[in-house]
Amino acid sequence: MKHIIKAQQFNKRNLSKLFSIAKEMDIIVKSGGSNILSHKVMATLFYEPSTRTRLSFESAMHKLGGEVITTESAREFSSSAKGETLEDSIRVIEGYADVIVLRHYESGAAKRAAMVSKTPIINAGDGSGQHPTQALLDIYTIKKELGEINGISVAMVGDLANGRTVRSLSYLLGKYEDIKIYFVTPEIVRMKQDIKAYLKRHNIQFFEENDLKKVCAKVDVVYQTRIQRERFGERVEDYEKAHGKYIISKEILDVMKKKSIIMHPLPRLDEIKSEVDSDPRAAYFRQAQNGLYIRMALLKMLLTS
Ligand code: CP
Repeated sequence: MKHIIKAQQFNKRNLSKLFSIAKEMDIIVKSGGSNILSHKVMATLFYEPSTRTRLSFESAMHKLGGEVITTESAREFSSSAKGETLEDSIRVIEGYADVIVLRHYESGAAKRAAMVSKTPIINAGDGSGQHPTQALLDIYTIKKELGEINGISVAMVGDLANGRTVRSLSYLLGKYEDIKIYFVTPEIVRMKQDIKAYLKRHNIQFFEENDLKKVCAKVDVVYQTRIQRERFGERVEDYEKAHGKYIISKEILDVMKKKSIIMHPLPRLDEIKSEVDSDPRAAYFRQAQNGLYIRMALLKMLLTS
């Protein structure tokens, strides 16, 4: 695997290998780091805001002894602001770095970058396209928290039309057996047809539901997402229709199974109330921490094999 562009690139065999390296990375972090990537350079090129993805990739590289060059707010502070194309920026940066981590506002941008790059490109989120490394850490979190992925039921809640994390996660869940997915969304941000068609092809049962409480009472994973204001542009009324409809609160916790978890790619606004944070089933901050181990594992796999 040269570039990491979409979740469908992964299969159960390389997922299992990735998870076992991620476990090693957890131990490496706790024992003070390693130098396996010394003299390697990672460029982070982010055209959209990020806290977790950029900083966990950068931390991952530092903890493995590598170097980081970065342009955050690349739309404003890179030569993109002077009109340079993404392709030209990549052709230049590939000469400076051993791996390029790219977040972009356009779906398909990571693929475009990979077409012109001899240096590995990692898609760190492309518009409302995909966020494969988030899905990898999500699946890793499910495995770590519940012990199993086959046979689980998952509620995906919130903005599923614009959410790249739920798209990538659906692709990965399609690799496992006996999965049930419940989509709980406001009408205006329903899961798109291409994902539903993929799930059908992979014999994954899915259901569209309105009653969050009823669904949360029966699933193993509640995957909440933010209604993404930035994807609505001038459509303020549409955003208002979608926002605030499905909230995880104490009332939802009360009906959830004892051995179930609440996940969220973060950042969250008000869609998970802070009263939920102290419940052991609230896994979202542990999930964000797993991002470090998975991204260390990905860097190791790409740069040392
Ligand atoms: N989950 C996620 O992609 O978070 P950031 O936007 O902070 O990177």
